[in-house]
Amino acid sequence: MTDQWSQLNEKLASYPYVDGYTISDRDFEVFKSVPVKELGGKANLARWHRHIASFKQEPSKQPTDDMELGDNLPQYLLNHLTKTGAPFNSIALAEELGLDHQKLIGAVKSLIAQDGLVTVSETSEKRTELTNEGQEMATNGSHEYNVFVAIGDEGLPQGELMKLPIGKVGMAKAIAAKWIATEKNGAEVRLVRKMAADAVVDKVREQLEQISLGQEVDAKDKTELKKRKLINEVTVKGLIVEKGPNFTTEIVKPELDLTAEMIQSGSWKEKTFKKYNFEALGVQPSSGHLHPLMKVRAEFRQIFFQMGFTEMPTNRYVESSFWNFDALFQPQQHPARDAHDTFFISDPAISTKFPTDYLERVKTVHSKGGFGSIGYNYDWKLEEAQKNVLRTHTTAVSARQLYSLAQEGFKPSKMFSIDRVFRNETLDATHLAEFHQVEGVIAEKNLSLAHLIGIFTEFFKKLGIEGLKFKPTYNPYTEPSMEIFAYHQGLKKWVEIGNSGMFRPEMLLPMGLPEDVNVAGYGLSLERPTMIRYGINNIRDLFGAKVDLEMIRKTPICRLSKKD
Ligand code: PHE
Repeated sequence: MTDQWSQLNEKLASYPYVDGYTISDRDFEVFKSVPVKELGGKANLARWHRHIASFKQEPSKQPTDDMELGDNLPQYLLNHLTKTGAPFNSIALAEELGLDHQKLIGAVKSLIAQDGLVTVSETSEKRTELTNEGQEMATNGSHEYNVFVAIGDEGLPQGELMKLPIGKVGMAKAIAAKWIATEKNGAEVRLVRKMAADAVVDKVREQLEQISLGQEVDAKDKTELKKRKLINEVTVKGLIVEKGPNFTTEIVKPELDLTAEMIQSGSWKEKTFKKYNFEALGVQPSSGHLHPLMKVRAEFRQIFFQMGFTEMPTNRYVESSFWNFDALFQPQQHPARDAHDTFFISDPAISTKFPTDYLERVKTVHSKGGFGSIGYNYDWKLEEAQKNVLRTHTTAVSARQLYSLAQEGFKPSKMFSIDRVFRNETLDATHLAEFHQVEGVIAEKNLSLAHLIGIFTEFFKKLGIEGLKFKPTYNPYTEPSMEIFAYHQGLKKWVEIGNSGMFRPEMLLPMGLPEDVNVAGYGLSLERPTMIRYGINNIRDLFGAKVDLEMIRKTPICRLSKKD
């Protein structure tokens, strides 16, 4: 007889019986004749056995009721209530039909939606389930049994056994069961069998098998299995379903919406409407996401704050030429003012409110000179200064702040701004008509170029950029002026990362700043480090109407590689 089951075990090894194994009545016949104790050590047979057990009902005994069960479960349930004339318990019925309980609950819920069709009340049942480890043992045997097998007739050094994952627990249990014992052989501890192989019964595996088949086992054994975490007691919640006051076997598909037509024709009176489900969770709205530029801006702000800078107000995209150019000692014929570079505003075209004294001093320094300068010697016109523009740089903001600083009484200051500026440029992969500037301004007495280089070094170090080089350049409002360069490891060349300089006395002195005060400024674009940080090659992929929202959603927060 034993041979027959071993043969079946081997035969089943070649069956892909879990997926696509169609069970037949024959499976059930064999299933009933397999003695539970034969499943020990026959993994394939055991697996097949549990698979068949999970169907509970033989195929020929499954209800057909001239309709496929899965097709219309709600209808089947109504017919069932009519046929039996009695309430049903969802847990018991699911078991009887060999159906997933949750599926059946879903069908009952759809019946509840039709007013008064069925009445339900809750019920619950305690169940014993195998844990993962329990299932594993039900198939492959208990640890102690496998230890007994592993030791064999010759015995085994304890060290060898301990290499197996089941070794420790299995050995303890097998010794307690008096299946095996330890033996000292000089320095070596060996494990040897104390029982004949056919006298050892893997009770644990058999009990687990019985539980998985829904059979009862001794209460004491059950407690022991629970302690070993091989089984779990679970409570299954179910429903008792009975006919409701409006019971019928006809399922009316409820209307979802009350339409104008139904109201006009009065047909709404006869219709059944789907009930509101106030419990339903709405669609989760996706949260807002910061644009990559704003993420990098947040990092820059942190660096400025760490270095003791305060933030300047930048809420003025439209600026007068006076603050954008004239206050910065930029002559009125300067090519940058030309319509090719600057966006002029047509409405309102001009600004009219300026600090009068200061305006006069600016006019004088441009046209005649002063404060030790010969000026530009040209006919300065108020009309030109009044013209409104979209600010071309954030230095317009710095000019306003420095003027305020002079009015309030000078004190050493470090200020920064990060915001949008506009230039009428030819658009290409790296240029747009608007971009963001990061600008820092340091006002202090007797500030030197060496201080400035120190500040830049510190600032860029916090961005992870070291080894700066400086190159003389020209700005109308600074002298000396320096372009800041850094070596780009990826491009293997020096790239310009910023522009800087010491603001000219022709700019500072008309504002009313003390003569021994020096003001240094520097600026860089926010776009360049952002594109480098997120590996974006075309500025149109970063900014503007064609930007992919998914990109904004997915870019991680910015962590510039700081070196403190
Ligand atoms: N405004 C300059 C630019 O647009 C940057 C700058 C700011 C230079 C302050 C010197 C001082 O490039």
